[in-house]
Amino acid sequence: KPLVFSGVQPTGNLHLGNYLGAIKKFVALQEQSDCIYCVVDLHSLTAQLVHQDLGDQTRSITAAFLASGIDPKKHIVFNQSRVMQHAELAWIFNCVARIGWMYRMTQFKDKAGKDRENASLGLLAYPSLMAADILLYRATHVPVGEDQKQHLELTRDIAQKFNNDFSEKIAALGVGVEMQVGEETVNGYFPITEPVIGGPAARIMSLRDGSKKMSKSDPSDLSRINLTDDADTISKKIRKAKTDPEPLPSELDGLESRPEAENLVGIYAGLAEISKADVLKEYGGQQFSVFKPALADLAVEKLAPIASEMRRIEGDRAYVDAVLKDGGERARAIAEGTMKTVRDIIGLLQD
Ligand code: TYM
Repeated sequence: KPLVFSGVQPTGNLHLGNYLGAIKKFVALQEQSDCIYCVVDLHSLTAQLVHQDLGDQTRSITAAFLASGIDPKKHIVFNQSRVMQHAELAWIFNCVARIGWMYRMTQFKDKAGKDRENASLGLLAYPSLMAADILLYRATHVPVGEDQKQHLELTRDIAQKFNNDFSEKIAALGVGVEMQVGEETVNGYFPITEPVIGGPAARIMSLRDGSKKMSKSDPSDLSRINLTDDADTISKKIRKAKTDPEPLPSELDGLESRPEAENLVGIYAGLAEISKADVLKEYGGQQFSVFKPALADLAVEKLAPIASEMRRIEGDRAYVDAVLKDGGERARAIAEGTMKTVRDIIGLLQD
């Protein structure tokens, strides 16, 4: 059975990109898989150490998971820092991964900017902690937006290097498993994780600039639709979304070099759970004056129930805290099992 892991940082408001690119997939994957969904509070320290309300932000992401339909009884929902094994395995992976691998990460380059020497060491090592999140549970599938693809490739590289470096010890302890990686059959302790990326909404762009991704950190609130925006705000933001003067094309290739149009079509497709081609079948030839109100109605119809459920759940702090505590205990039991084996593989003495 596939094991799914994914994480979301507790920084800023969740937006439509997070929802369509990640959380909506988390919900869909619950049917056929065991899932572990984590609010990665330790990751949120990499860019900003001091937060006003990290606890409430963590609760708010948890509430969004639950309001979207994640079942915390069948699956595991918890915050990362509760399970100290994440930090422990990340340290091991810091010693497996090479500095050069980290310097190549586009997210590091973007976030560190020009003053790289002054970025936190945590920001550089970020993907190592992310690999630890995933591999602690020996997850096989990781649903994320397109922007996390490079980090998942690094996770595969780390798993592969660990498996290679310790291959003799893994064989001696008998803890390796055979797995299929592309054409090859390999043996190792850590699985080579498959990214689950794709569909029409894997990369939602800013509503103000079709060349930038929709992001929590964009200074303009008009650039994104927040999961908690009310109906009027959603409609206003879609009405003000940047477009070009042409009507929508009837065929997909007509969207080429029209990034803003393509983005709105992708958002519609993601919300309606249809393909972009199907959206164009319905709206091809129409002006944005027709398409935008239809998109706004659809967005309100899909997001308003989540927003109101999220507010209700956020109001019940004791419930949210109980979910995280219970999830943390269940996650810790799995994580400690993995770490016991990892310590044995490495040769760290333990009880
Ligand atoms: P984060 O918190 O930045 O984003 C959470 C999820 O939302 C996706 N996403 C988007 N998808 C489509 N369009 C967009 N504009 C958009 N913006 C964000 C992200 O791809 C992500 O899936 N490093 C991760 C958190 C993390 C993680 C993990 C994920 C830590 N450990 C282990 C998977 C597995 C991050 O910063 O996501």
